[in-house]
Amino acid sequence: MTERYYVTTPIYYVNDVPHLGTAYTTIVADAIARYHRLQGHDTFFLTGLDEHGLKIEEAAKKAGLDAKAFVDSMARPFQDAWKRLDVRYDHFIRTTDGAHEKAAQDLWRACATAGDIYLGNFEGPYCVACEAYYTEKDLLEGKCPVHGQPVTVLKEPSYFFRLSKYQKPLLDFYEASPGFVEPAGRFNEVKSFVREELRDLSVSRTSFAWGVPVPDDPKHVMYVWFDALANYWSATLSEPSRKDYWPADVHLVGKDILRFHAVYWPAFLMSAGMPLPKKVFAHGWLTVNGQKMSKSLMNALSPILVADTFGPDAIRYYLLREVAFGQDGDVSYEAIVARWNAELGNDLGNLVNRTVALCHKLCGGRVPEGDADPDVEFAVGETLPAIHKAWRELAPHRALDETWKLCRLGNAYIDKKAPWALAKDGKTAELGKTLRNMIELVHWLAALVAPVIPGKADEIRAQIGSPSVGKWPERWGEVEVGRVLPPARPIFPRIDEDRQREMLAKLPGSSPSPSSSSSSSASPSPSSSSSPSSITYEDFMKAELKVGIVRSAERVPKSDKLLKLTVDVGEEAPRQIVAGIGKAVDPAKLPGTRVVVVANLAPRKIFGLESRGMVLASGGETDLQIVTFAGEVPAGTRVK
Ligand code: MSP
Repeated sequence: MTERYYVTTPIYYVNDVPHLGTAYTTIVADAIARYHRLQGHDTFFLTGLDEHGLKIEEAAKKAGLDAKAFVDSMARPFQDAWKRLDVRYDHFIRTTDGAHEKAAQDLWRACATAGDIYLGNFEGPYCVACEAYYTEKDLLEGKCPVHGQPVTVLKEPSYFFRLSKYQKPLLDFYEASPGFVEPAGRFNEVKSFVREELRDLSVSRTSFAWGVPVPDDPKHVMYVWFDALANYWSATLSEPSRKDYWPADVHLVGKDILRFHAVYWPAFLMSAGMPLPKKVFAHGWLTVNGQKMSKSLMNALSPILVADTFGPDAIRYYLLREVAFGQDGDVSYEAIVARWNAELGNDLGNLVNRTVALCHKLCGGRVPEGDADPDVEFAVGETLPAIHKAWRELAPHRALDETWKLCRLGNAYIDKKAPWALAKDGKTAELGKTLRNMIELVHWLAALVAPVIPGKADEIRAQIGSPSVGKWPERWGEVEVGRVLPPARPIFPRIDEDRQREMLAKLPGSSPSPSSSSSSSASPSPSSSSSPSSITYEDFMKAELKVGIVRSAERVPKSDKLLKLTVDVGEEAPRQIVAGIGKAVDPAKLPGTRVVVVANLAPRKIFGLESRGMVLASGGETDLQIVTFAGEVPAGTRVK
């Protein structure tokens, strides 16, 4: 039977336009869905909009529109943004869809029939921005702990959901489903929250009307989260053929809304006697200069402008590669350019370009004949399981890391084989074999990168004369021999400094230079006061600390202290770093060790050897300890 895969994003509040933060989950979900489609899985990818609640009602009033007209006007910007970012969802749900409202009411009725909904009075703090209830002890100095804004104190009749009844069933369920919430650390937070105290949840409001009416009591509208969470199930009722998609394989959500998905949602479903989603994956926040991106902080990057400047593929690649999915990650325009030049341009683009250009120069512009070369074929075969595993484990950054190893291998293979020399020496068979294998590698790479850079993947295939990437290759040697190749064309032409300046000048909110950063941030961190003994956050961020993986280590001749290391810091080639750690550290034990590298330290010569960066350590010469990591953080990840 064909494997089924159902992935969701949160549905976005329409009081804001999409920003790179909200685009992030949508792009990751799209890449995951594309990966599954390429495997031939029956895939359903859902995204959409959360259109009810007080926050939206207030935004509509501010815009001078009635609520329905307002939400209707906001759907387009989201759909346009996702289109511009090459996001191909299967269904776009809006919670004002009649079918959704009916499904939300059915879910309510099922909970009521189970005896889990009762009428009472709610009294307590509420944050409209979060659309969440708080207790006094949750508040920080009387304000919302997430938004830092004043809360509203509600006092009104309300229906309650018997959440307290589900404390034990939820804990039992968590126990029986170890992978239900990921990353694991977040699962622990969820468990502690549920273990501590689960109070019944207010699930209706009477003081405004913009919501789904409560069945049989239309003075009440449903609490917006009850209605919103139901979308994941109601979308599967949108067409009869979709009903088997439930339960979802994964809900991708930001860490701020995990509790709703990992506690309330399973409790509602348990009450209604319905199957629970298989996984909730909580990702981190994208930050700009360490601050969460949001409209109110004026640091939100517009995904459309970024896509207009760099194209959708570069921004998709950047987001998926820069930030290990699950962690927070700082983003900047400059870092997009850096990854463009190093990885998309140098590693991938160059490989494709060299391959096609060499076929033109040395093989009459056709795919040459030649046997499979185990050096390349086996490398692909050996890497594939890690790539599949990474996608299955929702780690696109790892899938890309593995894929880029193949790009580098391809470039090294060309250098080693030197086809130009083979041609000069008349070694036609070896030349054909070399280029044939390069074409085959490019054919595989096009599929491997297709979930992330679908547009460029098609361009890559066009460069080797293949149709667009519709499915995963099945074997080595699929590309037809003799096929005429179009002229070689760079896919990611290098962005030089002038061009970069020109591009960035057009982008509002481009990450501020250190001298202007504190003035452009609406809520400077406490550290931005300039006491002589402290530095600002921006000062600290000037040091680019990155995760490095030591690839090799040897003693520098005639020095008992210096080691010559090659360290992978996520760039096209590992760096050479000379470190004064040799009295305490055995070089034989270093390869594979993760270290912290000061990556933007000016290069210098030590003992006649160039050193590009510094490895962090503590202690004196002989009792020195290198700073390292407990887990498998990818090379190049920013440390802060
Ligand atoms: N409407 C609710 C979700 C209901 S799902 C049944 C909601 N909407 S939201 O528009 O406020 O936020 C949606 C998502 O965007 C959240 O997962 C949130 O974590 C994410 N992000 C908002 N800003 C973000 C960043 N700066 N970085 C990463 N994700 C960000 O909550």
